Amino acid sequence: MIQLNDKTFVPFINKKTIAAAINRIAHEISRDMQGETPIFIGVLNGAFVVVSDLVRAYPNTCEVSFVKMASYEGTKSTGKVNSLIGINENIEGRIVILVEDIVDTGNTLAALYEIFAKEKVKSFKTATLFFKPDAYKMDLKIDYIGIEIPNKFIVGYGLDYDGLGRNLPEVYQLKS
Ligand code: IMP
Ligand code: MG
Repeated sequence: MIQLNDKTFVPFINKKTIAAAINRIAHEISRDMQGETPIFIGVLNGAFVVVSDLVRAYPNTCEVSFVKMASYEGTKSTGKVNSLIGINENIEGRIVILVEDIVDTGNTLAALYEIFAKEKVKSFKTATLFFKPDAYKMDLKIDYIGIEIPNKFIVGYGLDYDGLGRNLPEVYQLKS
């Protein structure tokens, strides 16, 4: 068990399961690229761990960048989404693969989609390590999904509770 401020978390998804999911996504993406070099764009802060492992599992050439946005406070999605910091690279004509740590309601993803729709990219794809199908409210298709989880609050592997827990190598869920 792990204590982060006022909340207790119990082990949920181990390293091996996470690594297998990351590896599978990396190969699915590579197969779909047909020789083209994609640019992976991670959504900070949470996706820094996923991106780091994903690009090292990626069996071909790729570029990596990050953007920053937030829609989350504590354990409940606020639905409010801030603006984007950080598309400095020239992404015109490129295959962009947006990488999220987790997709919950989909608010963040939808907002990012809107922003990237204005860029003249060749194609825009979305990847997430964790997905909560029961919480998802959007019609937007997610191209690459690692692990579907129930509508529970999790921490670890980049995901935080009040800024804590991102460094945990495995995933824990809120103790009920
Ligand atoms: P959405 O906009 O509701 O899909 O939420 C997306 C963002 O909320 C993610 O990028 C995370 O930062 C955060 N989030 C959603 N679910 C969880 C969770 O279970 N644990 C930690 N953060 C979460
Ligand atoms: Mg996030």
